[in-house]
Amino acid sequence: MELIKWVLYSLVIFLVLVNGSFALYTPPESYLIACGSSQNITFQGHTYIPDSQHSSFVLKTGNSVVASSNSSSNAPFPFYQSARVFTEKASYRFEIRKEGRHWVRLYFSPLPKSSHDLTSASLTVVTDDFVLLSNFSFKKHKGSFMFKEYAINVTSDILVMTFIPSNGSVAFVNAIEVVSMPNELFADQALAVDPIAPFSGLSELAFETVYRVNMGGPLITAQNDTLGRTWVNDLKYLHMNSSVFNVSVNPSTIKYPEGVTPETAPNLVYATADTMGDANVNDQNFNITWVFPVDPNFSYFVRVHLCDIMSKSLNTLVFNLYINSDTALVSFDLSSITNDLSVAYFKDFVSNVSADSSTLTVSVGPDSMADLTNATMNGLEIMKISNALKSLDGLSSVDILLPSSSSKKNIVGIIVGSVVGALAAVALVGLCCCCLVGRKSKSSPQQGGHSWLPLPLYGNSLTLTKMSTTSQKSGTASCISLASSNLGRFFSFQEILDASNKFDEKLLLGVGGFGRVYKGTLEDGTNVAVKRGNPRSEQGLAEFRTEIEMLSKLRHRHLVSLIGYCDERSEMILVYEYMANGPLRSHLYGSDLPPLSWKQRLEICIGSARGLHYLHTGASQSIIHRDVKTTNILLDENFVAKVADFGLSKAGPALDQTHVSTAVKGSFGYLDPEYFRRQQLTEKSDVYSFGVVLMEVLCTRPALNPVLPREQVNIAEWAMSWQKKGMLEQIMDKNLVGKVNPASLKKFGETAEKCLAEYGVDRPSMGDVLWNLEYALQLQETSSALMEPEDNSTNHITGIQLTPLEHFDNSVSMIEGGNSCTDEDPEDVATSAVFSQLVNPRGR
Ligand SMILES: *[C@@H]1O[C@H](CO)[C@@H](O)[C@H](O)[C@H]1NC(C)=O
Ligand SMILES: *[C@@H]1O[C@H](CO)[C@@H](O)[C@H](O)[C@H]1NC(C)=O
Ligand SMILES: *[C@@H]1O[C@H](CO)[C@@H](O)[C@H](O)[C@H]1NC(C)=O
Ligand SMILES: *[C@@H]1O[C@H](CO)[C@@H](O)[C@H](O)[C@H]1NC(C)=O
Repeated sequence: MELIKWVLYSLVIFLVLVNGSFALYTPPESYLIACGSSQNITFQGHTYIPDSQHSSFVLKTGNSVVASSNSSSNAPFPFYQSARVFTEKASYRFEIRKEGRHWVRLYFSPLPKSSHDLTSASLTVVTDDFVLLSNFSFKKHKGSFMFKEYAINVTSDILVMTFIPSNGSVAFVNAIEVVSMPNELFADQALAVDPIAPFSGLSELAFETVYRVNMGGPLITAQNDTLGRTWVNDLKYLHMNSSVFNVSVNPSTIKYPEGVTPETAPNLVYATADTMGDANVNDQNFNITWVFPVDPNFSYFVRVHLCDIMSKSLNTLVFNLYINSDTALVSFDLSSITNDLSVAYFKDFVSNVSADSSTLTVSVGPDSMADLTNATMNGLEIMKISNALKSLDGLSSVDILLPSSSSKKNIVGIIVGSVVGALAAVALVGLCCCCLVGRKSKSSPQQGGHSWLPLPLYGNSLTLTKMSTTSQKSGTASCISLASSNLGRFFSFQEILDASNKFDEKLLLGVGGFGRVYKGTLEDGTNVAVKRGNPRSEQGLAEFRTEIEMLSKLRHRHLVSLIGYCDERSEMILVYEYMANGPLRSHLYGSDLPPLSWKQRLEICIGSARGLHYLHTGASQSIIHRDVKTTNILLDENFVAKVADFGLSKAGPALDQTHVSTAVKGSFGYLDPEYFRRQQLTEKSDVYSFGVVLMEVLCTRPALNPVLPREQVNIAEWAMSWQKKGMLEQIMDKNLVGKVNPASLKKFGETAEKCLAEYGVDRPSMGDVLWNLEYALQLQETSSALMEPEDNSTNHITGIQLTPLEHFDNSVSMIEGGNSCTDEDPEDVATSAVFSQLVNPRGR
C-alpha cells in the first residue's frame, strides 16, 4: 500500500511538473487493479497492480481462473492480455477509509483465446447496494470491449463488488478502478425538469456515466482530467438539423469562480463550445440539438457546462435550454450569474426517460426576448440514476441477485475483527465449507431429501466476528437435517403450490430480503403466509436456518408463529400464520387505510413491546431481534400486534458477557447509534429501534425521509428535539390532535425519549417500556372514561387482554391483506433497504 501511495505521489509530482498550470486533486483512495495479470500494467500514466498481489483487498470465494492471451485486441486499453474469469459467484472487497462518492470503473475485453468462451459470458455485477450490470451479454453488445464508469457513494468502510455468472456461463473482468472523488463534485440536489421542481436525495443514488461530451472540442483523455474522466467530441450526437459554429479560446483564460474547480471539468472543456454563430445576421431561429440513445425507464442526471467565451460584453447571451423538450432554463442570461465573461458555470438537472422512449435530447436555442440570437453549450455529462430497485441495469435488485444478509455484513465483521480473528475466520470458513460441501452432495442417501440444510446444533456458528472465541465450539457443531428436528409441520412442495395457487403474483404480500411472501390457503381453509426463499443462496440459507431455529423455539401471542416449512427441491419455504391487517406501517402512512386511534396505537405498541420483551427474557437464551421496524410489526384480523421477521435475529449475550460483537445489520433509520459505532449488540439495540417505532406511530412519517429539510430527515433526531422542548404535540399526527390525553402523550413521549438515549445503558429494558406504555394507555382510558362516561372501555384499562374489540369490528373499511404498503414501497421491505423513501422522492 505504501508503495502504491508512493507511486501515485511520484506520479502526481511528475504531472505537476509536466503541467504546472493546475493544482491536481489527489484522491485519498485509489485502487487500480489489473485482474488476472501476472505483472503491473501501466495505462494512461497509472500503474495497475495484479489482483493477486494487491494487499488491501481479498478475492472472496468463488472459483476464479486467470485467462491470458498474447494476441492483440482492438480494445483501447491494454488489459486485453489478462482477465479474471469467474465460474461462480465471487467478490472483490475494497477497504474504504474515506466514505463518500467513488468512481468505480470496470474494463471488459473478452480474450479471444482462453479456456472459457468469454464472448458468451453473461455478466452480473453488484455492489453491496446497487446492481451495476445484470445479465449483460457480450454477444448482444455491439463492441468487442466495454468500459463502464460508475459514481457510487460508499457509506461503509468496505465496498464489496460481486461478480455473478448467469445462465450457466462465466463472468469475467479485466481491470477495476475504485478511486475516490471530491465530495463536492455531486451535490444532493438538482433541478427536475418534468415538471420543474427541486430534486433532492441524489447522494443516496448510484450513477452510471453514459455520456461525457466536450462540445466543439477535442477528445480529452483521462490523463488530462484531474479525475481521470474521458470527454469525447460531440459531433456524432448532433441532430442532423443542427448547424453549429465552433468557438474556442485559450484554456488558460477560463476563470473558475468559487464552487467550480478543474475537478468540475477541466478548462479544456470550458474553452471550446458549440454556438449558433453570428446568427443574428439572418433571421435564423433554430435549436442546437444533441440526441443520445439511452436505456428507457430510467432517470438521468444531466450536467450542463456553460461558459460565455464568445460575447463581447455582458448580458448579450440569453438563451433557453431544453431537456427532452421540457424547458430546463428559460431566458437564461449566463453573464448575469457569473458577472464576467469566460467564467466556468455548470448546472444539474434530473430528467426522466419513459419506458417507451430510448433517447434523451438536449437542446439550446435562442430566447425570443433576447436582442441577440445565440446560444452556447460547452460540455455535457449524462449519468443514469439507479432506479427504485437500486439497479442501473434492469429490474432486479441486489436482494434478488444476491439475496438477503448480504456478504458485506459478514465482511465488515471480518475487517472489524482482529487479525487473529481473521485467521480464525479462515479456519471457520473452512469448517463452514465442510458443511456446504455436505450440502452439495444433495443426493447422499442417508440424509434423504433434506440434506441441503445443514443445521449446526449450536446456533450461531456463522457469527464471523466472534469466531476467535467461538470457533472451537463451532468446530464441534455437527450437521443435522431439518427433517430430524421438531420444526413444525412439513409441507410438500405440491401442497405449497396448491396453497399459493402456484405462487400467484396476485397473492404477493411483500418482498423481503429473504424472498417473496405470498398469501396462501391450506386445504382446510386456513389462511397462511408463505415465505419463499430464493433457492441456491447461501446467505438466505443462513437466515432461513436462523428463522426456523428461532421460531420453532418461540411461541408467543405477540410473535408471528411458524406453522411449518418446506425444503423439498432445494426450496426454502416457511409457512406462517396469516396476518390479515398486514404491517403496522401501512396503517400509519403511505396508504389509504383509515387512521388508527390513539388507543389502538397504544395497544399495538404494547403488544409488540410484549413480544420483544418475551424475546429478550422469555426464552432460555435471550434473543435480540435486530430489525425492529414498523414493517416487521404485523397486525392480525383483530389488530393484535405480532413481531415478525426473525431472519436477522441473534442469540443475546451469554451471562458472562455484556454484548454480542457482530457486524451491523438492520435497517437504516432504526439502527442503534451505539451498535453502529461499536458493532456491539445488546437488547438495548432493539429498544432503540423500538423508540423509532414509537415516534413513527406518533408522527406517522417514515423513520428516514431524505426529501425533508436536513434537520427533519431522521425521525429520531427530529422528534427528540421536539420532545426535549416538551412540544411533541406540535409534530404528532394531525388525526390525533385533540384526541390524546396530554398526560398519556407525555408518558409516551418520555418513554420514546428514553428508548432513543444515545447510550444503551441509559435506555430502559423492554419490560420497563412495556410498563410505561401500559401506564400511558391507562392515562388515556381514564381520561376518556371521564369524558365519555357511557363508554365502558375501562374494561381494557390494563390493555393487556387485547381481546377483539367491538371498536375494531366497526372498521369494515379496513382492507384485507398486508400488501398495501409493500406495493408502494417494495424497496423498503428489503432488509438492506436503506433510505427507501428517497428512491421516489417526487412521488410523495
Ligand atoms: C508492481 O508495482 C508495485 C508498486 O509499484 C511494485 O511493488 C511491484 O513490485 C510491481 N510488480 C511487478 C511484478 O513489477
Ligand atoms: C453519501 O451518503 C451519506 C449518507 O448516506 C451522506 O451523508 C453523504 O453526504 C453522501 N456523500 C456524497 C458525496 O454524496
Ligand atoms: C427548440 O426546442 C424546443 C423544445 O423541443 C421547442 O419548444 C422550441 O420551439 C424549439 N425552438 C426552435 C426555434 O425551434
Ligand atoms: C420501469 O421501472 C420500474 C422500476 O423502476 C418498474 O417497476 C417498471 O415495471 C418498469 N416499467 C417498464 C415498462 O419496464
